[in-house]
Amino acid sequence: MINELTALRANALEQLSHIWDDGALEQWRVTFLGRNGALAAAMTKLGALPKEERPAAGKLANEVKIALESAFEAKIGAIKQRALSESLESEPLDVTLPGRPVQRGRLHPANANLREIYRIWRDMGFQIFLSRETESDEVNFQMLNIPPHHPARDNWSTFYVADTDHRVLLRPHTSPGQIRAMRELGANGTQPVRVILPGMCYRYEQASVRYDIQFNQVEGLAIGRKITFADLKGTLTEFARRAFGERPVRFYADHFPFTEPSAQMDVQCIICNGAGCALCKYTGFLEILGSGMVHPTVLRNGGYDPDEWSGFAFGMGPERIAMLRYGIEDIRYFWGNDLRFLEQF
Ligand code: PHE
Repeated sequence: MINELTALRANALEQLSHIWDDGALEQWRVTFLGRNGALAAAMTKLGALPKEERPAAGKLANEVKIALESAFEAKIGAIKQRALSESLESEPLDVTLPGRPVQRGRLHPANANLREIYRIWRDMGFQIFLSRETESDEVNFQMLNIPPHHPARDNWSTFYVADTDHRVLLRPHTSPGQIRAMRELGANGTQPVRVILPGMCYRYEQASVRYDIQFNQVEGLAIGRKITFADLKGTLTEFARRAFGERPVRFYADHFPFTEPSAQMDVQCIICNGAGCALCKYTGFLEILGSGMVHPTVLRNGGYDPDEWSGFAFGMGPERIAMLRYGIEDIRYFWGNDLRFLEQF
């Protein structure tokens, strides 16, 4: 009996050492440890032994049972471990590889540039006033001192909205917002106004490197009791200093029907610093904006008494400014939605 148990243990452990899959392991368990297995069969023989042999044989039978059970448990763990290392080798996973970059969204360059301009004007005490993109002919032209059939209208190649006898249009500039801001904020010509009016404008143009049919403008308007041309020059010069750094600006006479006098402001070329280059067409200066003192007729249309109140206004093209700052050659890139362009900012 002792020999039989010892042989059983040796045989069972020998067989187990070759087993590496769950099916064979279960088969082994049934064969040796199962209710009708080899060990159970040996146990039933214990009762038939002579009395004096029983204790030793019983003790050994227990030892064999414990040995086989713990070998069985150990094998379960060993099979799992082997399966894991095999799968790691056949499907390599290098946990030291850097992760895939996550693509983040970003501001459109035109919006980033607009926000920079808003920030500068905000720091200088100007609020944002949003006016409408569809306008009436009356506010866009007549209130701005441009009567019907006036030749100055040719300066604003206008999209008219269909079927309205040319009385509704897409604004070709942000200046009609001056009228709306004065009427909404001026309290019948009793309160000062200091706003910028940003937004999309539309023009019936042949699209080209320099002109597109849509673009942003940032209008500015300051109305007060004693605003002079010196305020216009000082304020716009300070804006240029904050936007372009320490470089000379120059003003010279221009003409707009809604301002009198009117002035264009140039800033020294940011590429050649005034020496002359292709960007500034060898003038040394870049055109930044149009401006002027609000015309008395326009003040009156905004509800103010021009004998008591005065003001200045200006209008700039932020995309033009961004083109100068970042060396963008074609204004059409802004609304072309080409990621190769957009991702450069
Ligand atoms: N609205 C003018 C333009 O589109 C610019 C401008 C605005 C000029 C305000 C003077 C004052 O060209």
